[in-house]
This record gives sequence, C-alpha cells and structure tokens, in this order.
Amino acid sequence: MDYAKIAPVMGSLWSPIAAVSSHWRGQDNAQICVSIGGASIVAERPRVITQIYKTNHSHGMIMGSGAFALNFPRADQLDWIDRFGMFSGRDGSKLEGLDYRAGETGSPLFADCWGWLDCRVVNAMDGGDLTCFLAEVVDGLTVSEGEPLWWRDARQRMPEEWMRAYGEKQAGEVAVSRAQMSSIDLTSPSWGMPLSNVSPPP
Ligand SMILES: Cc1cc2nc3c(=O)[nH]c(=O)nc-3n(C[C@H](O)[C@H](O)[C@H](O)COP(=O)(O)O)c2cc1C
Repeated sequence: MDYAKIAPVMGSLWSPIAAVSSHWRGQDNAQICVSIGGASIVAERPRVITQIYKTNHSHGMIMGSGAFALNFPRADQLDWIDRFGMFSGRDGSKLEGLDYRAGETGSPLFADCWGWLDCRVVNAMDGGDLTCFLAEVVDGLTVSEGEPLWWRDARQRMPEEWMRAYGEKQAGEVAVSRAQMSSIDLTSPSWGMPLSNVSPPP
C-alpha cells in the first residue's frame, strides 16, 4: 500500500496533545500522547481510550497503578512536548518544579493547563507494541478558555532542533513497533486489571 495516499486521513486522527501522568511506587511521571479518544456516550459514566507504547516507562507505571491522568496543554504550552515527550522518566524526574497535586487516583494533576481528566483503567487491549487502555473518568476540570494544543499545529511551530531530535527518536521507536506489533496476546483481554476498578452503575 502507498502510505502517501492515506497520510492526510491518518494524520487527521491524532488527538489533542496530552501529558499522560501516572504515580507508581513513589514516583510521579508524565509522557506525551496523541492517541486519545472519548469512549462513552453516557454523561454520568465518561470514559476514554488511551494508547501507550510498551517501551515507555509510563506503560509499566499505568499497568502497575491501574490509573493515569490526562493533562491537556493550552495552545501556548508548546514546551510540554520537549519536556514530557523527548525523555524518559527512567532517566530522571520530569515533574520537578512543576505545580501539581495528586488526584483521586493518585495521578498528578497539573495546575497550569487547558484541562485535565483523572482516569481509572477498567480494561486493556494488547496491540503488540502498545496497550490500548479503556478508562473511567473519575474527576476532571476545564481550566482555561480557548483551544487545546493539537499535534498538527504544534509540529508547524516546533523549533528545527526539536523536530530533528523528535525524528531521530521516532525512527528508533518505529523499528521497535515494527518488530513487536504482530505479537498480540489475544488470551488476556483484561490484562489482569481488577474488575473492581469498574464503578457500579449509579
Ligand atoms: C508529539 C508526540 C506524540 C507522542 N504520542 C505518543 C502516544 O500517542 N503514545 C505513546 O505511548 N507515546 C507517545 N509519544 C512518546 C512518549 O511521549 C515518549 O516516548 C516519552 O519520552 C515516554 O516517556 P516515559 O518513558 O517517561 O513514559 C509521543 C511523543 C511525542 C513527542
């Protein structure tokens, strides 16, 4: 297949940028994610799906804690991409000096942002190279007016130096995904998430 034929369609599917934060074994962390979607039409039971690559430190933290928060930057908070998306929490704290607090799930909620959602995982699907988490939104807030930051806009405004570093990092990750994406475990649909995470119907 010629990817160029579908590139505009595929490119339109990326979500607003979020810093997906997590708390596990005494560590707070956050990573950038653009693969988020709404997953409920029931206003009193909001849900999201979020796709996290297995090589990320956040993946283990979310699997361990069964929770994460989605912190959405305002359009002017371009620096989040470099801070949370280019380095791993394995190599040092990314949240040092940031104004945040622990939410109901224990996940970090950023004070200065466009909005946030505190989420508890209720199920997970293995994608080989990534896990697609289905999560219940237990708390949330729209903090600012205006628009969140979209990847399609952010990439036009990113300094050349960041774009080059992003391209190099991405090339390594694409190679890992290519090797792992066929190895899907179809036998563990719930990935050991305790079903007690699912709230009873109100
Ligand atoms: C623009 C951008 C979009 C990204 N989208 C995703 C994504 O959708 N899912 C994901 O798991 N990682 C995504 N990443 C990669 C992680 O944010 C990145 O690998 C991060 O350093 C992982 O941090 P951690 O090891 O502390 O978890 C994205 C990175 C950037 C810069």
